[in-house]
Amino acid sequence: MSQSSKRHTNTFLQHAAMAPFDEVTGAAPVPLPSMRTSTVRFRNLEALEGVAAQKKEGKRIFTYGRSGMDTHGALESIFCELETAKYAYLASSGMAAITLAFLSFLKQGDHVIVADCSYGPVRRLDAAVLSRFGIKVSYCRAVPDVIKQNLTPQTRMLYVESPGSLLLEMLDLPALAQFATEHNLIMATDNTWGLGFYNPLELGVDVSVVAGTKYLNGHSDLLLGAVMVNNDELAAQLDSTHYALGYSISADDAWLAIRGARTLPLRLSQSAESGLKVAKWLRESPIVDKIYYPALDSDDGHLLWKRDCKGSNGLMSIRLKTSHKNARNFVNSLKLFGIGFSWGGFESLVQLVDKAALVPHEYWGNSDYPLVRLYVGLEHVDDLIADLQQAITTIS
Ligand SMILES: Cc1ncc(COP(=O)(O)O)c(C=O)c1O
Repeated sequence: MSQSSKRHTNTFLQHAAMAPFDEVTGAAPVPLPSMRTSTVRFRNLEALEGVAAQKKEGKRIFTYGRSGMDTHGALESIFCELETAKYAYLASSGMAAITLAFLSFLKQGDHVIVADCSYGPVRRLDAAVLSRFGIKVSYCRAVPDVIKQNLTPQTRMLYVESPGSLLLEMLDLPALAQFATEHNLIMATDNTWGLGFYNPLELGVDVSVVAGTKYLNGHSDLLLGAVMVNNDELAAQLDSTHYALGYSISADDAWLAIRGARTLPLRLSQSAESGLKVAKWLRESPIVDKIYYPALDSDDGHLLWKRDCKGSNGLMSIRLKTSHKNARNFVNSLKLFGIGFSWGGFESLVQLVDKAALVPHEYWGNSDYPLVRLYVGLEHVDDLIADLQQAITTIS
């Protein structure tokens, strides 16, 4: 697995995962093919033994389909590049990547502190799995003073997400990483939102988890996750858990994800430019009470965003100054924003947020207004604004 070098990531993404030249003809297709196989064949036992010896020395070498082939290796190197990581471990979804991080670093009797703004299904992992294995979880605001109150002698890990799911609350990752170091905690963060322009590992975080399902693939047609680390010891724990649990993704999904990754920077910058335009336009609307979008100068986390991020994307939440019934009508009236849970694809999406998912959450306050999540995709921004305008007119 490679670490980033001096040339730009965009250049790396265009030249990664190229097919090697045929030794006889000197010709090659451009992209590395999807290397579908369960079994790896060896010319003879000496070849097998040679490979096994190299593997023992820690070389990433392919001996069986489950641990991935060259297509998987190429995708791992892309995750490493994007996250300036030494190691990347692939998982079949973002949620599977989160699970891998928890199961790799925690054991019976351990305690983990989870930021209350983290992706909701982490609570299901806790309820359905961690609790059965004697791992305790506490949820709290992700600020050092509050986390400190939740520390126990058994606390082993701090798990956060920045910005938080739903309200996009920016966290002070360097301060949290320093706190984690001082208290001997492994710190993990979900960096699905920031892949490509926010670098938790460079900010001092130990473990970065990404749902490649979103922007990395970018085409709303596969599920994918990855866990990245730089530390050799953490990598060894991930490696053995990944293998023991039989984590594996299809070569075709890896291939599609590589194809998506080549245009990640372009898609991100277009989506961010349109997102900011939409957010600024919405801010002027009398129907909008508050916009949660870190790249917007009025957002509560804007200064942290400016300090720690090199870009943005098209995801935002808006609190509407209207009734829940009107918010439903607003969502139903939109024609270019599909109603769906995901984001990061080419197409714009909208969702009426279930308020139960926000409770308890101090960042929200006591407002009774409804929350709508918008994902601004790659359609022309003027058409998206016109669509929002007609939906606002419908309920005004
Ligand atoms: C921030 C975040 N993390 C993780 C996930 C889980 O990804 P997946 O749907 O691939 O399991 C999601 C999905 O919405 C997400 O938004």
